Amino acid sequence: MEAKVTAHARFTIADIDKRVYGSFLEHLGRAVYTGIYEPGHPTADEHGMRRDVIDLVRELDTPICRYPGGNFVSAYNWEDGIGPKEDRPTRLDLAWRTSESNQVGIHEFAEWAKSANTEMMLAVNLGSRGLDDARNFVEYVNHPGGSYWSDLRKKNGRADPWDVKVWCLGNEMDGPWQVGHKSAHEYGHLANETAKALRAFDDKLQLIVCGSSSAEMPTYPQWEATVLEETYEQVDFISLHMYFMNYEKNTREYLALPEKLDRYIGTVSGVIDYVKAKKRAKHDVKISFDEWNVWYHERKQDEKRVKEWDWPHAPVLLEDIYNFEDVLQVGCILNTFIRRSDVVGIACIAQLVNVIAPIMTEPGGASWKQTIYYPFQFASRYGRGTALQLDVDCPSYNADIAANVSYLDVAGVHDGDAGTVTFFAVNRHESEAITIDLALERFGEAKSVEHTLIKHDDLEAVNSRDNPDNVKPERKEGANLAGGKITVTVPPYSYSMIRVT
Ligand code: AHR
Repeated sequence: MEAKVTAHARFTIADIDKRVYGSFLEHLGRAVYTGIYEPGHPTADEHGMRRDVIDLVRELDTPICRYPGGNFVSAYNWEDGIGPKEDRPTRLDLAWRTSESNQVGIHEFAEWAKSANTEMMLAVNLGSRGLDDARNFVEYVNHPGGSYWSDLRKKNGRADPWDVKVWCLGNEMDGPWQVGHKSAHEYGHLANETAKALRAFDDKLQLIVCGSSSAEMPTYPQWEATVLEETYEQVDFISLHMYFMNYEKNTREYLALPEKLDRYIGTVSGVIDYVKAKKRAKHDVKISFDEWNVWYHERKQDEKRVKEWDWPHAPVLLEDIYNFEDVLQVGCILNTFIRRSDVVGIACIAQLVNVIAPIMTEPGGASWKQTIYYPFQFASRYGRGTALQLDVDCPSYNADIAANVSYLDVAGVHDGDAGTVTFFAVNRHESEAITIDLALERFGEAKSVEHTLIKHDDLEAVNSRDNPDNVKPERKEGANLAGGKITVTVPPYSYSMIRVT
């Protein structure tokens, strides 16, 4: 099969906000305890943080990390996680029916984020709590000193404010499962009043209001319209979440799901425009896609176990083991964010360690990269710059979820400073290779091309502690560059990065 792709330096979509390669850590399962934090571990630093995990996160190069939840945040008291560790209370976490020891709180997370070279993105509890706790938390985190909460932070060992810019106003407040779930009007009003209070403290904060937990929610997309009508003037982003599943083991349908993601983004973008026009507003609101990933491998078993267990601390939970098929899916999802970088300003893979995550750990032992680590790393490292409006001519297929799904899913990024053009390409065809004829126009002289491939003959192949390199990228020879044109052949069901310098 053949595909023709044309990239022109002046046909651009938008400058990509690097925060679309963000991540997420929730107090859930083993994400925090034995994930990032394990004081007795051989690699633990002076704060009890696992250095082996910090190294993997640094290598992943994720610029921002959302914390501390997720569903967890909706019944979380942030004050439980400050002060001497021995005085911190153990609480029952209602979201996951576990015990929370509070040995990690804002101070520990901030130290970890600094070591991991990632910016903090914090969520406030608008489920069981409200405006007052949110403003106190922001004062504790961001005020230099001379007030009750900022002086308490100093007393607790941190002199300087952390100056956190991005704040989430609750989590998935449209979901009946959420502690303190609200109607769109109730939530919109509370979020607006909270945003006003936070802005009175600092009008430079970037605030994210909750959109839908999925495009399947019965309230979607009216939720977005109502919430934005209440909050538009006070917020910078509206959040969306989506998890990808393949219970039917139908790869064609599964790999067409990013078309649905694209429609979801397009619809919410339309709602944003509608409210903006109605309000005669001047500023833009963007989408913060702050939870996305494949999540189905362990999901049903986990839902059952959570109902039955007796409040364990840091149990194995949501530890999906990703396969090679998921590499293709994650590649297509990230391509979608690049192509929608005009409206998606933040996106967070959910999550980062152990819990539906690219990084896995063994308590007291090894850590390793899941299969999906690689497409995320490539996009995050090399997908920075300007998103290109590519012209793509390739055969397509009809799926139930969408018609005309191109067998070649491709996104292109131009980094003018580095002088590179990078393409991320997924071949969604089961049995046919695609020979891509890639024309580069007006980028200046291209000197070399490199092709990195992720391919495995078994879609269900996984990485594990004992076989961590089962699925991994390899450099390929064979991409040809001549007269501003690249010819490269990508095998069936494969992920490729093609990088021109
Ligand atoms: O990421 C796992 C959970 O998925 C989060 O806690 C919640 O926000 C979402 O439903």
